Amino acid sequence: MSITMKADGLTGFVTLDNPPVNAIGKAMREGLMEAVKWAERENFDRVIVTGAGRAFAAGADAREFDGAALEPFLPDVCDAIERSFVPWVAAINGVALGGGAEIALACRMRIAGPKAQIGLPEVTLGVIPGAGGTQRAMRLCGLESALEMIAFGRPLRATEALKAGLIHAVEVDPVDAADMVNTEELQCVVPTWELPPPDHDEAAFTAIREKLAKRSPGQVAPLRAVEVVEQGLTLDFAEAMALERATFLELKQGDQSRALRHMFFAERAAKPPKDLPSAPELTEVAVVGGGTMGAGIAYACLSLGLPVTLLETDADGVERAEANVGKLIGDGVARGRLSEDGEEALRARLTATTDYAKAANAPLAIEAAFEDMEVKKAIFAQLDAALSPDAILATNTSYLDVDEIAAGTRDPSRVLGLHFFAPAHIMRLLEIVKGAQSSPKALATGYALGKLLKKVPVVAGVCDGFIGNRIYSRYREAADTVFMDGSTPWEVDEAMVNFGYAMGPYEVADLSGLDIGYAARRRQDATRDPNRRYIPLADRMYELGKLGKKVGAGWYRYPGGGGKVEDPIVADLALEEAHFAGIERTEYDEAQIVERLTLAMINEATDVLAEGIAQSAADIDLVTVFGYGFPRWRGGLMHYADTLGVPQIVERITALQAEDPVAWKLSPVLADCAERGLSLAEWSPV
Ligand code: 3HC
Repeated sequence: MSITMKADGLTGFVTLDNPPVNAIGKAMREGLMEAVKWAERENFDRVIVTGAGRAFAAGADAREFDGAALEPFLPDVCDAIERSFVPWVAAINGVALGGGAEIALACRMRIAGPKAQIGLPEVTLGVIPGAGGTQRAMRLCGLESALEMIAFGRPLRATEALKAGLIHAVEVDPVDAADMVNTEELQCVVPTWELPPPDHDEAAFTAIREKLAKRSPGQVAPLRAVEVVEQGLTLDFAEAMALERATFLELKQGDQSRALRHMFFAERAAKPPKDLPSAPELTEVAVVGGGTMGAGIAYACLSLGLPVTLLETDADGVERAEANVGKLIGDGVARGRLSEDGEEALRARLTATTDYAKAANAPLAIEAAFEDMEVKKAIFAQLDAALSPDAILATNTSYLDVDEIAAGTRDPSRVLGLHFFAPAHIMRLLEIVKGAQSSPKALATGYALGKLLKKVPVVAGVCDGFIGNRIYSRYREAADTVFMDGSTPWEVDEAMVNFGYAMGPYEVADLSGLDIGYAARRRQDATRDPNRRYIPLADRMYELGKLGKKVGAGWYRYPGGGGKVEDPIVADLALEEAHFAGIERTEYDEAQIVERLTLAMINEATDVLAEGIAQSAADIDLVTVFGYGFPRWRGGLMHYADTLGVPQIVERITALQAEDPVAWKLSPVLADCAERGLSLAEWSPV
């Protein structure tokens, strides 16, 4: 039944018990219905409901969302609890989220443990609360708090929930405290549904809608949730519940909810394969290079409590590295992430030095130096000589051949790539690059570090750019082609922002610096297909010294170091280059821009899949969302492709071949899927 029931005198104890986090499926709903009847039959003076293990309940079982809703429905369960003559008390031992919170809100009283959290995160799964959350939360904690909680889905800590009026008390032992509540006092508590809804407050609705437009653009569920709250103010409780439920059921079937559920489960499936050996204990870490990336990795490791030896080439480098890490520590303090004690301890764990011998005991070294093969090889030779022969040696290269780096060491099996994304202490993606000889132990170490750092680990094979940068370079190429042939950087950026990216490709390039892409293109010169069209615009920008925001001018200009402004000189560059190349420019509308940029990525991504560089379509989704800002609510690149449909993609790419048969050469996997009637998620090699 997923619940247990136990009587003790006049108290009935009900425990939600569906490990690991008591997700509420059909069996639990049936169990709760049964428990309501049981408590009434036994004529208890109260029921205390709590969760087994670490959670109260994580919400409705999202694995059931693909099918039709199954009886008994959760709103009916909550109603039965709330309207029973036996008062129920929720002893919230851990997280009470979504449907878990809704069960608690239907109880007559709520007492939480100090570490409990209570929240309605349904919008993060593309739905709204579907069992009374919108109606009960606003009756308990008022309009403003309820709107914040429901529209952004951020759970409240126990003390916050108490302050908001959502719960009655915070107690170390909530079950015990629930048992101690005076029976008469409990009988006097008015059931939530009987409370009047708050008054309408125009300003609160305007404010939340403005915040949503900024923070959750493109997302449907948060706005629908606000609408349901607003309409609920003037409906009676039963009508408001019916409206909430109908909206929940409609959104559950929608593309955004499917996409967000896909991301939720894909993220949780990103785990080390079961057959990997256990990793060595990460007692300390060596990081080579104290630039932006190295400092970010070092800071992330220091924050975990790990001692870090940060290796540099000379005294100036050491000073710079210390300053870079120091700045991150300072920022951490300013944001309230570190107490003063924490700050000192963190600084004390850092040793910046040129002496590789100081890292002799590190079980893991991560090289984050300049992207140059010779530089990397020299560093690996030093690590090879200074560290124990058991140590795992990782390179944070974004593009370079991990096998070539490994070949220069005594034991290539202990070398792998660990590709972080800037800022390394914030971005969640970690590409674990498996070289031809990388050992299971090396991979296990990468996963272990990823787990400690709370990263989303994705294994990638060796190729230029691995999964993410390889796909991104096609996105950039398509953007430059559209720009050259008929658009502007700001039109391209605007189209991609409207699609759901936080920033378009040109603004991103300005932030990273145009010198990075330039160096990558020079490295690719030798191997580039001579028949492939080459768009010279980015090279022209480099030659003009327009290196991006850091110099005040890139694709945009940044007068006085401030916000971006469009630069007509940049727009003219495309006119000029198109003229020299004899191209008759055309105009692209927003839909055409989005289509070209996304199809170019999808085509490349399917090649990445076919070559085994990525192990699954879901892995590509994780990479594009967690490393490259692809909108999560579209489910990642491959999930998005499947919502477009493979036959449509094949048709569009085939049509584009008339313009450029090389750039739009159809990936064999797309052709294969079309022929076998498969989605990209279903594809595997025959
Ligand atoms: N449905 C189904 N499975 C769930 C689930 C849910 N709501 N919540 C968690 N799980 C599963 C995970 O997939 C994972 O499965 P796995 O072990 O097979 O990979 C397992 O439970 C453990 O989850 P985590 O790895 O995430 O464990 P953590 O301890 O890190 O986090 C948590 C626990 C905070 C509860 C987190 O899992 C979470 O945020 N869950 C989702 C909460 C949520 O969005 N609830 C709303 C659901 S919609 C709803 O309730 C509709 C209602 O209004 C009608």
